Amino acid sequence: MQEHRYDVVIVGAGGAGMRAAIEAAPRARTAVLTKLYPTRSHTGAAQGGMCAALANVEEDNWEWHTFDTVKGGDYIVDQDAAELMAKEAIDAVLDLEKMGLPFNRTPEGRIDQRRFGGHTRDHGKAPVRRACYAADRTGHMILQTLYQNCVKHNVEFFNEFYALDLNMTTDENGEPVANGVVAYELATGEIHVFHAKAIIFATGGSGRMYKTTSNAHTLTGDGMGIVFRKGLPLEDMEFHQFHPTGLAGLGILISEAVRGEGGILRNVDGERFMERYAPTIKDLAPRDIVARSMVLEVLEGRGAGPNKDYVYIDVRHLGEDVLNEKLPDITEFSRTYLGVDPVTELVPVYPTCHYIMGGIPTNVDAQVLANNDQVVHGLYAAGECACVSVHGANRLGTNSLLDINVFGRRAGLAAAAYANSTDFTELEENPTAMVDEWLAGLLSEHGNERVADIRTELQQTMDNNAAVFRTEETLTTVLGDIHALKERYNHIRVQDKGKRFNSDLLEAVELGFLLELAEVTVVSALNRKESRGGHAREDYPDRDDENFMVHTMAYKMGDGLIADIELGYKPVVQTRYEPMERKY
Ligand code: FUM
Repeated sequence: MQEHRYDVVIVGAGGAGMRAAIEAAPRARTAVLTKLYPTRSHTGAAQGGMCAALANVEEDNWEWHTFDTVKGGDYIVDQDAAELMAKEAIDAVLDLEKMGLPFNRTPEGRIDQRRFGGHTRDHGKAPVRRACYAADRTGHMILQTLYQNCVKHNVEFFNEFYALDLNMTTDENGEPVANGVVAYELATGEIHVFHAKAIIFATGGSGRMYKTTSNAHTLTGDGMGIVFRKGLPLEDMEFHQFHPTGLAGLGILISEAVRGEGGILRNVDGERFMERYAPTIKDLAPRDIVARSMVLEVLEGRGAGPNKDYVYIDVRHLGEDVLNEKLPDITEFSRTYLGVDPVTELVPVYPTCHYIMGGIPTNVDAQVLANNDQVVHGLYAAGECACVSVHGANRLGTNSLLDINVFGRRAGLAAAAYANSTDFTELEENPTAMVDEWLAGLLSEHGNERVADIRTELQQTMDNNAAVFRTEETLTTVLGDIHALKERYNHIRVQDKGKRFNSDLLEAVELGFLLELAEVTVVSALNRKESRGGHAREDYPDRDDENFMVHTMAYKMGDGLIADIELGYKPVVQTRYEPMERKY
């Protein structure tokens, strides 16, 4: 075991982790652990933009942005956090510009802005141009820019290090304190302990629990899983976002920027069906509404293709120049993966699991919460793995690249300040004991179950039973399937017993996290007997503010194979907006 000591340890080198590092490194000795090379992080797959009410191309302000975020999240957004994010958005974009991000420009040289779903002028009157963008590669540009700035600030990276456990202790008041991360080095199989004063989790999402997803293979919810296993809660895990336009049958993202630039969804009859579901802003309604509308078109027989199981996005009227200049990646993806040329053909699309609104509960300084008001000293979370909660039941497009910049920055500042105000606490006597035993167990030959089989079955049952629409029956079915898969997981066989680049072992570890998080998702979804945002219960089609205007808090009780998940609640912070009917 190798031991390292840093003031601040950041787990994850996507946008949130690297934005945090840029603040922490100049103030405190900082290390970033990442299971990928930083520039391969999933932030790089984000396409369409990062929103801020710059008002560069038309009237806009942060209050409209706050309102849209709250309404888009179906009123389960913490309104104080949403307001803070909308206000800080402007500086977040300007910070990136100063760091060198090559945004698209207006003819006058200002940062250009485009439309995106749910972003409106004057409280829903019409779509507004709020998304700052770099063609359809905004996430890629952000990732590269942040990495270059991390290099400038001499951030120390530990690449291909997998975090597996968190060390915790208690202070003199009996309050929880985080003080170390246990990580596995892919190249050598060595276990490392990173003793730290402050730890930031920025480990991304868990979309790989679904088969149809825009998420990279690496998005297996590791950070959320580690925290959950330490007895800390996960918040609002029933709310997964299905992005309307995944390439049909594949789930690869076709940016909402396509509709922002004027793309139109059409059913098999060529009808612009969103006019029926959202008459005011049509194709630019929030994602939950568009995804449900698309699924309904298919269920009601207006789907296209040999199996009538997708609809189309039509961009032919935009012309080749606009596609080449503003949407080059999605044009290429359609050609490469479906053999369809958007310049002249309709592109088949269907909703794809894209984002989890829930995650590790935090306050606006990214401090992790052990319960409704107790922070875990020295522990922070930011980005998709965290739940602040600014996205509520449904995130608006482009609020994610914003979230990672605003709350990544706040996490880096808060963690460095805390680290500079405190001493190292003592690590437990054998900080790697749990990980040693766990990995030894996985490597011992005790079964014939294959990781890939269990993962495939998990993803299929999640697609079938816990996707855009759910019912008590489908959720009960998938919960039974997860329990059976967890039982089989107990008998997996890791083929590779070696130390070097043992991705076989790490895929087994990741599958464990996915199974556990899928269970939390489904248990939370079963309990929420209403429809809100990305959680659409066919058996409870209405929003029920009287009983469910609360955040779900899920805790793991005990160590059993079938987790005993206890659910609690946290009140939603409401400031200026009364919940209203969500019409667009
Ligand atoms: O559609 C997109 O370009 C995705 C953006 C987002 O998820 O924020």
